[in-house]
Amino acid sequence: MDDRFGMTLPKAELHLHIEGTLEPELMIALASRNGIDLPLSSVDAVRQAYEFTNLQSFLDIYYRGTEVLRTAEDFSDLAAAYLRTAHAQGVRHVEMFFDPQTHTSRGVPMGAVIDGLTAAIAEAEASLGMSGALIMCFLRHLPVAHAMETLEAALPHADRIIGVGLDSSEVGYPPSMFVEVYRRAVAEGFVPVAHAGEEGPPEYVWEAIDVLGARRIDHGIRSMEDPALVRRLAADGIPVTVCPLSNVRLQVVDRLTAHPLPAMLDAGLSVSINSDDPAYFGGYIGDNYTAVGAELGLDRATLAEIARQSFRSSFLPQRRRDALLAEVDAAVDGDAS
Ligand code: ADE
Ligand code: ZN
Repeated sequence: MDDRFGMTLPKAELHLHIEGTLEPELMIALASRNGIDLPLSSVDAVRQAYEFTNLQSFLDIYYRGTEVLRTAEDFSDLAAAYLRTAHAQGVRHVEMFFDPQTHTSRGVPMGAVIDGLTAAIAEAEASLGMSGALIMCFLRHLPVAHAMETLEAALPHADRIIGVGLDSSEVGYPPSMFVEVYRRAVAEGFVPVAHAGEEGPPEYVWEAIDVLGARRIDHGIRSMEDPALVRRLAADGIPVTVCPLSNVRLQVVDRLTAHPLPAMLDAGLSVSINSDDPAYFGGYIGDNYTAVGAELGLDRATLAEIARQSFRSSFLPQRRRDALLAEVDAAVDGDAS
């Protein structure tokens, strides 16, 4: 397969933690700008520390990295760097997760985080023709009351946030714990999504859809262990945002060739391919498309269908969604001619 096809295919990224795009070079630059001493001071040393055995071993390092993010400018620089790389890998629309509690608990105002991220998205809209939106995630390892306070603190910024999500350590923190927070979030007009079935069992995916009303499931790969759940996701067309390189790096799957993505497609699930935390997992979204194309033997038609699915699974208005679907068709036609 032509390596560039998966890279250049127009696509939406629906599962991307902006804090997980912090490359070591920027981490070191921001530490210097903010007068912070990092335990590891060279790019190579930082990268070498990125060996993970499970989700928690990653999260411990990921949260430490976020400490260099202090000002609106830091968040803007972070998002601008991601958006440039994503654009070069075919991303036309992104629904970006951010973890407000990670920052507010360090004294960074919620407004500074949102101002920085929205400034970078506005700039990418103007200069690169991209579109973008923010989804704020609650950290499931922190008390539910803290999530509720975070939701309330976000209300003055609600016009700049489209949805709520649930992330961080999964096992032991079932989605149903957050039912009141989600009820309030939906009442305030936020679209609900949730991480479930990454390390956690299929029951967590059932709870995410039936208790929280999640409109998309992030990861969801362990759904494949429960045929009734697979039938439900397929019947209701509930999209699943899959992150193949992340799953390998966090040892959720043994190796890419063992990834359930082909089985998910065969089962009729609405699957998109995403990068999750690309600075930590060895690849951005186009790298994920390229890797699954090569290692799982997905042909161009299948990759193009996944790219279409990424737009259909987005929360974009119909007109923009249709325009971006047409861009996929044009890319496929251009490739065939
Ligand atoms: N936060 C950032 N990346 C995550 C992941 N893969 N799972 C849960 N929480 C996360
Ligand atoms: Zn994630």
